Amino acid sequence: MITTLKGKKAIVTGGGRGLGKAVALYLAREGVHVGITGRNEENLKVTLAELHDIGVNAAYAVFDVTEEAAVQQGVKRLVEKLGSVDILINNAGVGDFGKIADMSSKQWEDVIRVNLFGVYYVAKAVYPFLKDKGEGDIVNVASTAGLKGGGNMSAYAASKAAVVSLSQSMMAEWRKENIRVITLTPSTIASDMSIQGGLTDGNPESVLQPEDFAQWVCDMLKMNRRALVASASLFSTNP
Ligand SMILES: NC(=O)c1ccc[n+]([C@@H]2O[C@H](COP(=O)([O-])OP(=O)(O)OC[C@H]3O[C@@H](n4cnc5c(N)ncnc54)[C@H](OP(=O)(O)O)[C@@H]3O)[C@@H](O)[C@H]2O)c1
Repeated sequence: MITTLKGKKAIVTGGGRGLGKAVALYLAREGVHVGITGRNEENLKVTLAELHDIGVNAAYAVFDVTEEAAVQQGVKRLVEKLGSVDILINNAGVGDFGKIADMSSKQWEDVIRVNLFGVYYVAKAVYPFLKDKGEGDIVNVASTAGLKGGGNMSAYAASKAAVVSLSQSMMAEWRKENIRVITLTPSTIASDMSIQGGLTDGNPESVLQPEDFAQWVCDMLKMNRRALVASASLFSTNP
């Protein structure tokens, strides 16, 4: 049986652009009320208007995922505005690429701070609401880069490997409370990160698009609650 997502409430970090925005809009088309987060308020306002046009309740919160107190306040505000929360799409992240010897320690640490600590702070802020509800879903967005290190991506790959591990630990602890934790390791998808980072030209004829990612996420969330996709990868067929 496929579960409907209609009427559920989701928080999508990094929901103002890129993959997060695509997931927010896709969820809304499924009837999900959506709270989006990010640092750029203009992008959040534009996406909020698009969510309202679809006809769902929507709200946004501006915070940097590396600031734990701001994360907690922002999540609390969004839950108040939405009424509750069922789904967290833990998506916000940065891609800063370069050789180990060339990247400054500050750049390197910043990638770890956003991609690892950000995922940790947001999940920790949302978890109590899911626990109280006795049900919920957390989707942590890692990357194929987290499955194997490579040149020019040491900080990014290390951060995503850590997200894979953290997410597995969350699953081990929280599935007993009927919280599904899904670890995603997508390959390159056309977005600011991948195009500006020189990873792809983003050609829609052959390269994964944010909508593909969004469909994938929603299909997994729609599975009967007895089923948990623990981890999954997504690739372009022939980029
Ligand atoms: N695109 C790919 O090829 C690909 C492949 C595998 C995995 N991923 C992962 O997918 C996720 C989304 O990537 P994307 O391609 O959509 O990247 P993107 O287009 O660069 O968007 C990044 C998003 O993260 C938010 N963000 C970044 N730093 C933040 C911070 N410190 N605090 C709060 N929000 C922050 C941004 O919001 P603001 O600008 O408003 O801060 C933006 O919404 C990332 O975790 C990325 O690592 C991407």
